[in-house]
Formats: sequence, C-alpha cells, structure tokens
Amino acid sequence: MIELNNVTKYFRTGFFGIKKNAVEKLSLYVEDGKVTGFFGPNGAGKSTTIKMIVGLIKPSAGSIKINGFESSYYKARLKLGYLPENPSFPRGLKGMEIIDYYSKLLYKSIDKKKAEEAMKLAGIFYAKNIHAHKYSKGMMQRLALAVSILGDPEILIFDEPLSGLDPIGRKEFKDIIFKLKERNKTIFFSSHVLADSKELCDRIAVLVNGKLIKNEDIAAIEKEAESYAEDKKDYGLNAEYGTPTEVYLYDLMVKNKKNSEN
Ligand SMILES: Nc1ncnc2c1ncn2[C@@H]1O[C@H](COP(=O)(O)OP(=O)(O)OP(=O)(O)O)[C@@H](O)[C@H]1O
Ligand SMILES: [Mg+2]
Repeated sequence: MIELNNVTKYFRTGFFGIKKNAVEKLSLYVEDGKVTGFFGPNGAGKSTTIKMIVGLIKPSAGSIKINGFESSYYKARLKLGYLPENPSFPRGLKGMEIIDYYSKLLYKSIDKKKAEEAMKLAGIFYAKNIHAHKYSKGMMQRLALAVSILGDPEILIFDEPLSGLDPIGRKEFKDIIFKLKERNKTIFFSSHVLADSKELCDRIAVLVNGKLIKNEDIAAIEKEAESYAEDKKDYGLNAEYGTPTEVYLYDLMVKNKKNSEN
C-alpha cells in the first residue's frame, strides 16, 4: 500500500529562486488491489507526486511510504513498477535487448520466458527485433509498459499510460489494466481523460494546483455527480463531456482552478 502524509514539494524558480509549491500538504492512501485514477489539469502536480512515490525525487516536507518503507529507501521499490510520462530508451538497442537490460537491473532474476511474457502482455513482442528508436510513440509506450511489469510487481504506477495511443491501442491498454487488476495488482495511474474514470477506476483522486480536492470511491463520485446534475440549471451545455461524472469532475477542476488563481 502507498501512504502519502502531508507531502509538500516545492521547486525554486526564476532568477531569485523563489519557492513555488508543485504539491501542497498532500495526504493520500492508495489501497491494495484497487485501481486509483489520478486526475488533474496540466501542471497540477501529478507527475511530481508520481516521481516522489517512485523515489526519483524527494518531498520537501512530509513522508511517503510504500509497504511501510520510506519511498527513498530501495526496499520501497522492490515491488513497484513505474511507467514514466515520456518514456525513452538508449539509442541503438532493439526492443528485446532493452527488456534484457532491464531484466538484469532487477533485484530478482527474470528468465527469458518471463521477459517475453511481459512483452506479449504489453503487445510489443512482435517488434522485439526492431531498434527502439524506430518505434512509434505508442510502441514506445508499450515497451515502457513491458519494462514496468517485468518482475511481476505488486504495485504499478503509470503516468498517463493512455497518452499517445490510438483508439485501438487505448482499448488494448485498458484491457491490460483490467488483466493486471484481475491479478490483484495495486494500480495508480494519472490521466487527463475523464471518461477513463468510470471504466477503469475503483477510486478517483483529483489534484488541482498541487492540492487534493477529491479522493473517493467511484460510486460516491457518481452519486455526487447525479445530484450535481439535478441541481444545476444550465447542465448539459458542455458538449465535450457526455456523462454526469465527467461533467462533475470537469466543473470541479475548473472551479478549483479559478479559486486558486484569484
Ligand atoms: N524540475 C522542476 N523544476 C521546476 N518546476 C517544476 C519541475 N518539475 C515540475 N515543476 C512544476 O511543478 C508543477 C507541476 O508539474 P507536474 O509535471 O507535476 O504537473 P502534471 O500534473 O504532471 O501536468 P501534466 O498534466 O501537464 O503532465 C508545474 O508548475 C511545473 O512547472
Ligand atoms: Mg504530468
């Protein structure tokens, strides 16, 4: 399980190095065996949060624990798979060579069959002998997914796993998430696409300007969305979003974004 306790991360920006909070006093508990969707507008702090969870950067304040271990400690990462926002790999290596390389970096040995299984699950096995720098964006995403599931980790952290995928790729990727869910994995993924919430998630967390504004089960969100739809007079004017949950999450983000800009 993942526990974030009062986590703040600031970066220093500009000539004077003024501190700017990317994430502010974030407390979040990610339950085992559940799929949690992490939503929020551009610059909300999703990737920053994810990088802190996987131990790539340290919180400025607060603590993050994974299965009881502090996120900066190597033991926190033993059962964790990570798909970064814009995956890239060393030039000159073929897909299979990259998988072999990452297999060797893991704490436990991965035999060739298991490595190939990961590639098959991610739908990139067919391109195993092609140099990765010749891959399309979606193929790269799939290779990175294969890397993240090598070693069959308990917890999977995906930063915008569906971005850059065509409709077929999106559907396939969602099916992979369902398969991983069936295997009782804990999945925490960020997304911009509100429609993904209902389909994939057991729980939804929404971040706006570094602050957590929602963290609930999908059933509770849907209930709130329905009563929101009943109360709102000009409801249905948003052509982009079809379901009450999408409209509700959208309006929630807009309202909170405006509030924090004022
Ligand atoms: N290394 C850094 N140095 C300075 N500022 C940073 C750094 N990394 C992130 N930020 C800032 O932190 C804020 C949050 O960025 P982050 O990448 O976490 O957003 P995000 O929610 O992942 O956005 P997107 O949906 O566009 O991927 C932004 O204002 C960004 O400019
Ligand atoms: Mg991001």
